[in-house]
Amino acid sequence: MNVILDCDPGHDDAIAILLLGSKPYFNVLGVTTVSGNQTIEKTTLNALNVIDFLGLDFKVYEGSSDPIKRERVNCGEIHGESGLDGFTFPKHNKKKEAKDAVSFIVDAINSSKEKVVMITTGPMTNLGKAFLRDPNIKNNIEKIVLMGGSIGAGNVTPAAEFNINCDAEAADICFKSGVPIYMVGLDVTRQVLVLPEVIERMRKIGNKTSDMFVKLMETFNYNQKKVFNLDGGPLHDPVTVASLINPELVHFEYVNTEIDTASSSSYGRTNCDLPGYLKKKKNSYVATKINVPLFWDIIEEAIASYN
Ligand code: RIB
Ligand code: CA
Repeated sequence: MNVILDCDPGHDDAIAILLLGSKPYFNVLGVTTVSGNQTIEKTTLNALNVIDFLGLDFKVYEGSSDPIKRERVNCGEIHGESGLDGFTFPKHNKKKEAKDAVSFIVDAINSSKEKVVMITTGPMTNLGKAFLRDPNIKNNIEKIVLMGGSIGAGNVTPAAEFNINCDAEAADICFKSGVPIYMVGLDVTRQVLVLPEVIERMRKIGNKTSDMFVKLMETFNYNQKKVFNLDGGPLHDPVTVASLINPELVHFEYVNTEIDTASSSSYGRTNCDLPGYLKKKKNSYVATKINVPLFWDIIEEAIASYN
């Protein structure tokens, strides 16, 4: 399976990278970075650090700092000043590629011999810009599997989830592209909380990767407690990759979803019409259920597969 991961590491993005590198059947064409959890410089450095630490040979392409239309927002209160606070990565020589993320996405999709699975775990700015630059890439994308949106309430405004709220115009372009959309939203990711028993379970694996996981998650949880009063942070992003590792993990409903780019208070809302009130053309598979024990089994197996 040819995949591109577009991300804004970010504690949960880092675990999505870990999952992606744990299965040889993922042919990772590249990892692209976007501003979101932190600035583009920091998310790019974090991606390089995680990939090097895990001993993966993924190439990193730096992406967009600014959204398509709205002003840039970041999320230091959850992911810290570095965007990946809690673990000190060893020094290394891994560098980002010269090509920018949008150019890479267009070129890699157009030249792929098989359709590409696009995974996005941050704001969808890079993919939105890629569609604007070359709409024909839609013909060689198998599906877009995104962490973002919510059938229910948001997590950065009452209406909107962070990734979509960062760049609703980009998400709107992607949802209207005609490419099959698999939306992994807060409705399922809020069920996979890194509770103390999860941390202890992963600590018992006892390798350097589990040590990284534990240290990162302890900081992630500290900030999630401060901001949301949660006893464990939701491990949002890895659910995308995990749903590709085991299709039984997540149940999706095929519905019409529209992105609100017009209103002020609901900007970035994903209006998922599960009852079919509006009788509009269906365009998205929206996650409604998740097998939580299976998710943690997938995470544990992946961490144990590293040294
Ligand atoms: O709303 C959760 C999303 O926002 C996750 O992707 C997290 O990493 C942040 O980017
Ligand atoms: Ca993210």
